[in-house]
Amino acid sequence: MATETPPTELWRLLPVPIPFETVSVVGLGYIGLPTAATLASRGIQVLGVDVSLKAVNAINEARAHFSEPDLDGLVQSAVASGRLRAYTEPQPADAFIIAVPTPIQHDKSPDMTYVENATRAVAKVLKEGDLVILESTSPVGTTEWMAGLIREERPDLVAAGGGVHDLKISMAYCPERILPGRMVFELVENDRIVGGVTPGCAARAKALYASFVRGNIFETSSGVAELVKLIENAYRDVNIAFANEVANVCQRMGLDAWEAISLANKHPRVTILNPGPGVGGHCIAVDPWFLIDQHPKHTPLMKAAREVNDGRPHTVIARVAEVATKIGSRKVCCLGLAYKPDVDDLRESPAMEIAVHLAKHGYDVRVCEPHVEDMPSALETVGASLQDFGPAIADSDIVVLLVGHTAFKDIDPASLEGKTVIDCVGLWR
Ligand SMILES: NC(=O)c1ccc[n+]([C@@H]2O[C@H](COP(=O)([O-])OP(=O)(O)OC[C@H]3O[C@@H](n4cnc5c(N)ncnc54)[C@H](O)[C@@H]3O)[C@@H](O)[C@H]2O)c1
Repeated sequence: MATETPPTELWRLLPVPIPFETVSVVGLGYIGLPTAATLASRGIQVLGVDVSLKAVNAINEARAHFSEPDLDGLVQSAVASGRLRAYTEPQPADAFIIAVPTPIQHDKSPDMTYVENATRAVAKVLKEGDLVILESTSPVGTTEWMAGLIREERPDLVAAGGGVHDLKISMAYCPERILPGRMVFELVENDRIVGGVTPGCAARAKALYASFVRGNIFETSSGVAELVKLIENAYRDVNIAFANEVANVCQRMGLDAWEAISLANKHPRVTILNPGPGVGGHCIAVDPWFLIDQHPKHTPLMKAAREVNDGRPHTVIARVAEVATKIGSRKVCCLGLAYKPDVDDLRESPAMEIAVHLAKHGYDVRVCEPHVEDMPSALETVGASLQDFGPAIADSDIVVLLVGHTAFKDIDPASLEGKTVIDCVGLWR
């Protein structure tokens, strides 16, 4: 069983020689910043790069520009030691880790412009012998496509004979699996997959990760490594969709989904997940589309799962509408906006989608999100108000629990008396 020793303590246990003096981490968000600070804690000179001046300034002032447990201390000591500095333009280094966004577009196809821009910018400062690793979740084939971009930008780095495998630099893909809320710990403890464009590239990438990873590091091809990340998240999505479909059926029959699932899970070979108001975040709600987009005819299950999960917020909205008509009040309190418990990340959040929809459609909406200080603009423009949960519940007739934040566990049941409660996450059962 892994212990929760802070990573800075773990370094002393790792007598691994570090093969790179300088590493540039390109994209200093949820993935890139913890990675950059962790590498710096290993004695590597880290040059962080981000197009956001706000992020760069915060980091150079020794602050993380988003909230993540243990990250502030790690960034503070990395910057204070002089081993982490952030820039808005790529700087020369021995290795590059690219961790920029890979969202989907309106038609659900991947938007690879961030990866393309970052690759072309990095290409300008590359020298022979460098290592370029992509960590952004990406369609299969992306690392080889990036190698093609580098060949275009830097013909001088193509060895005689041309072709992806003849670059005078190494290229690899390493998917990131860390969990928001546990990133600093998991960055060190999780197993990693490193996929090289050639086996030699994989070996070099493994040597870099071995400088800070305590988990196992498995070498493979870049294509397999890209696929691994996509099938991990598609697998999670399909399983969550099953739980959500059970919840949809239970709602129609007036049965308690959480009770049914917990009893079904008494079967020795059944483990059904918990339903919720939908699937959010930057990964599970997005990544399956990369595979569906590449193989539409061969991914009917993944597509159906996406549709079930994307449909859940509408089920919750329909339930609120039903209750509002029944009790003759549209005063609603939405508890939670984040896409999962105990984080401040609102990206692709079904809770946000539900709160915005209700506020836009004539409901009098109060929202409570203990992890966010400022009202998100999407809600401000539709007239919802951000409040503490005490007054927000007191002023509402319908209370919709959208996120299982720890802070909501202790809400006094007496404060809910006389309200209609819609618990979408089973926290108050
Ligand atoms: N957040 C997670 O939990 C998580 C987990 C696993 C994988 N991923 C994947 O990792 C990748 C990064 O995700 P994230 O959550 O860190 O995103 P993020 O939005 O938090 O950070 C990305 C950063 O990249 C910067 N950026 C954009 N274009 C750039 C460029 N051309 N040059 C330099 N910087 C640039 C942005 O300003 C931003 O600060 C995505 O592909 C995501 O799917 C994320």
